[in-house]
Amino acid sequence: MGAKSEKSRILLTGAVGQIGSELAMALRARYGGQNVVAAGHKTEPEAELRDSGPFVYLDVTRRDMIREVIDEYRINTIYHLAAILSAVGEEKPQLTWQVNLDGLVNVLEMAREREMSQVFWPSSMAVFGPDTPKHDTPQETILRPTTMYGVTKVSGELLCDYYVDRFGLDVRGVRYPGIISSQTLPGGGTTDYAVEIFYEALKNQRYTCFLERDTVLPMMYMPDCIRATLMLMDADFEQLEHHADFNLTGFSFSPEELAAEIRKHMPAFEIEYEPDYRQQIAESWPCTIDDSAAREEWGWKPAYDLSTMVEDMLEKLEQRMGD
Ligand code: SER
Repeated sequence: MGAKSEKSRILLTGAVGQIGSELAMALRARYGGQNVVAAGHKTEPEAELRDSGPFVYLDVTRRDMIREVIDEYRINTIYHLAAILSAVGEEKPQLTWQVNLDGLVNVLEMAREREMSQVFWPSSMAVFGPDTPKHDTPQETILRPTTMYGVTKVSGELLCDYYVDRFGLDVRGVRYPGIISSQTLPGGGTTDYAVEIFYEALKNQRYTCFLERDTVLPMMYMPDCIRATLMLMDADFEQLEHHADFNLTGFSFSPEELAAEIRKHMPAFEIEYEPDYRQQIAESWPCTIDDSAAREEWGWKPAYDLSTMVEDMLEKLEQRMGD
């Protein structure tokens, strides 16, 4: 496994989302625009995504729709990113179960039925809960999340591992930390503040944060997120001990520390704190994560830290907002 030709017909669900929109372009650059079918649900794709290869509307809770797309485009690899995140998950727990888990079962079943080469499915640091050690959270530890999002991610990890063991399907995934990006806004997550803050800083020089000043969470900058995803998919399957549940992190910080870093570039920037229900979600997650399994099994190492991420974010957003 691992030859590029075997992975050359890709379906990417969640392609209009924060990670999907950038992963789509990275996959198209690698495998050719026509070989990467980007699938969204309701949101319109940006012109760049729509014009660089096939785009389809897909409801992942409908197995027949997934089958049609797979057959029409002769798909042999799926990156299944469509999901509801943690904050919306608490507003709509039943829908979150349906989209996140029924959607995953559908994708895995289709992958089994149509003998796919590979499936990528993202888990999250949300698999951890209040009983999990908060510092240097180990790879193998207590998984008792208190959010519906976390419940779907733990169940999803078990399901993916089941398909690896029982059916020999090549399923891989990481537990993403909060992802910070300059292109597409995140939607419905608890770590979204770490992206919103940049837009507000540039527009109004002030931001009201929905988390407390000292809430430390693990995060990662988008270029590292894309690189990690592709690195894991390129790894030799035989070398992997874990499959769909790799701990992964870039760096950790609190809102206060992020604000101080932004202030180095923008001395007038001010931040206030008005924590809401998302504070409780954040408090149930780790502060720092031990990702040594990813480092050992497929050579993971992040390139960005807090200060290089902030510098790059401000530069990219200033350019985009000035256009
Ligand atoms: N960024 C996600 C969220 O906040 C965590 O996986 O829901």
